[in-house]
Amino acid sequence: MAYRTHNDRLLLQRLAGVEASARRRHCPCVIELMPELQVARLDGAQLFGRSAPLQVDLGCGDGSFLCELAKQFPRKNFLGIERLTKRVEKVRRKAQKIENVRVLRADTLFAVRHLLSESSVEAFYLLFPDPWPKRRHQFRRIFTRDFLDAIAAALEKHGVLRVATDQLDYFRQIEWLSRAHSCFEIADSHELVLPLTKFERTFREQGAPIYRLTLRKTSPVR
Ligand SMILES: C[S@@+](CC[C@H](N)C(=O)[O-])C[C@H]1O[C@@H](n2cnc3c(N)ncnc32)[C@H](O)[C@@H]1O
Repeated sequence: MAYRTHNDRLLLQRLAGVEASARRRHCPCVIELMPELQVARLDGAQLFGRSAPLQVDLGCGDGSFLCELAKQFPRKNFLGIERLTKRVEKVRRKAQKIENVRVLRADTLFAVRHLLSESSVEAFYLLFPDPWPKRRHQFRRIFTRDFLDAIAAALEKHGVLRVATDQLDYFRQIEWLSRAHSCFEIADSHELVLPLTKFERTFREQGAPIYRLTLRKTSPVR
């Protein structure tokens, strides 16, 4: 089921911010958007109708991985985050009969930073993030120091971030940033068998190498 009310609330809050801002200022012809939006964080219990460990698939694509995992672990809650409307619709259709799946149409960094509560997530998955292989496009890659800061804040104590990519240079960058971050250690991920994502299925058919990394949160965020 898509969580539809949040954007409406966001819009209303934005409009309220604009009005308040305009009232505060003496020049009535200037309208300034307030950067400190009062965004309500998602309430897991309300969203899923129960309290359970939360796992989040970032850039969940068509939702095949998310839905398979949710079926395997019915006692946990699963949230997919995806920015493309058509993919969100695919997830919605797949998740119709799965009670422990929700999908949020949002930007990953915004959602992790502003919509998820502190220490609320047991596991994040970042599986085959857009690789942006051209050097001039690499600034668009999602995996940055800021991204890791936001993940660290949202993860529970000892929570994990699981990453997979077929791009060696992106993987090296991910490894380097992870080792440099004080909140994480690199954990062993070999024992875990996860459902295939749509992209992983394609890469396997092509015989492409797949690089994986699991990060475990070791220190509280300061
Ligand atoms: C290469 S696809 C991988 C999809 C899926 N994880 C899989 O492995 O099949 C990357 C996905 O991340 C989504 N995406 C990229 N950047 C995003 C962002 N900043 N916020 C939310 N979704 C994003 C894309 O729309 C796309 O669906």
